[in-house]
Amino acid sequence: RSSKKLEEYVMDMQPGMAEILPGYETPILGYNGSFPGPTVRARRGREVQILQRNRTNRSLNVHLHGGVTMPQYDGHPHDAIPAGEERLYKYPNVAHSSTLWYHDHAHGETAQTLFAGLAAFYLLDDPDDNHLDLPQGDFDVPLMITDRSFNKDGSFRYRLDLDRGFRGDTILVNGAVAPRMKVERRLYRLRFLNASNARAYNLVLGNDRDMIQIGSDGGLLPAPVKRKIIPMEPAERVDVIVDFRQFGVGSKVILHNQGGEPSTSAVMRFDVVRGTAEEARIPKLMREDDELPEPNAERSWPLTFQGLAGGASVWQIGGGGFSEMRIDCRPRQGSTELWTWRNLSNRTHPMHIHGYHFKIVSMNGKTPHPADQGWKDTVAVYPNETVVVMPYFDYFPGRYVFHCHAAEHGDMSMMGQMEVV
Ligand code: C2O
Ligand code: CU
Ligand code: CU
Repeated sequence: RSSKKLEEYVMDMQPGMAEILPGYETPILGYNGSFPGPTVRARRGREVQILQRNRTNRSLNVHLHGGVTMPQYDGHPHDAIPAGEERLYKYPNVAHSSTLWYHDHAHGETAQTLFAGLAAFYLLDDPDDNHLDLPQGDFDVPLMITDRSFNKDGSFRYRLDLDRGFRGDTILVNGAVAPRMKVERRLYRLRFLNASNARAYNLVLGNDRDMIQIGSDGGLLPAPVKRKIIPMEPAERVDVIVDFRQFGVGSKVILHNQGGEPSTSAVMRFDVVRGTAEEARIPKLMREDDELPEPNAERSWPLTFQGLAGGASVWQIGGGGFSEMRIDCRPRQGSTELWTWRNLSNRTHPMHIHGYHFKIVSMNGKTPHPADQGWKDTVAVYPNETVVVMPYFDYFPGRYVFHCHAAEHGDMSMMGQMEVV
């Protein structure tokens, strides 16, 4: 345990090879050439600096998804690191403990770079959570869920689908196909991240066993919530505690994707072995509800699919495509606002806001499920539905984007820009 106030990392964004299908080498682009990239562990109140060196032949940048950062370190799509150059990113870690991730955000090309492998976990801990006795160390397991398709030679196969976004026929967890994990009969914390371009999952454990959700995008919920099925749109995070004492030694417990096609219905398997002494417990209350200022503005964002002259078409927010030159709104620093996402299309849009978190006020006029009542940065807006959120512009002023996190939609060009003043 060091008393350093600062943590420094150096990473190379570079091509690499991954053995994903047994016996094949898959070319990837990754942080330090690996997929997923290295997990960063940060502590609240201690700054992390990451020098990112772009060792590829394309412009890239790095976005800490869910992170509170000054705008110059946020990875705005137009703020690129040219090929061969480097950039120092500073993360102050001022927000609540939470499961974050970092990924590329190159303008109009995120679907390709994310697909190629530029994604990794960033786990922000808070020593103030220690009294909760949540599972730690080997029992705290980040699981990045993605989908891919493969060519015969083992390379990734991408097929552009502007309408639905990319859907692969194979599910990967932490870069492995249907992995098996040995678990002891005790409590585990599993941190799910959907890092897929556009595929949504409905996670179910074994034959509908309980998972206890303790956190969402923005960190711990006020209190744990029992769930049998966990829907996850792209970029969402869900932290659960699973009590493997409910299974006998020797059980093989499958994590399913309910409703997936046959090839995408199994996600991974847990093989239960004899347990050691139990140290973790399931807390009753986790986090006090934050007091928020009354909203001082209301905005409505229609989400549409627009046919363009020449047969092209794009996704849009608020009746316009993304332009660096356009600022869609100017919220006041320290304020909250009410934002209404109105989905006028027949596709789901996981809507995401950079730099700040929000509370979900209503989903189609109804109070959100308790598991959706914590801090969020991404929320599913289903076809023809309306979701009202309340962003809190609490930290740094400046220019940030908000967008659909179906990567193909965000690239083309379902993205807006705000300037918090
Ligand atoms: Cu994962 Cu613009 O974000
Ligand atoms: Cu983000
Ligand atoms: Cu979308």
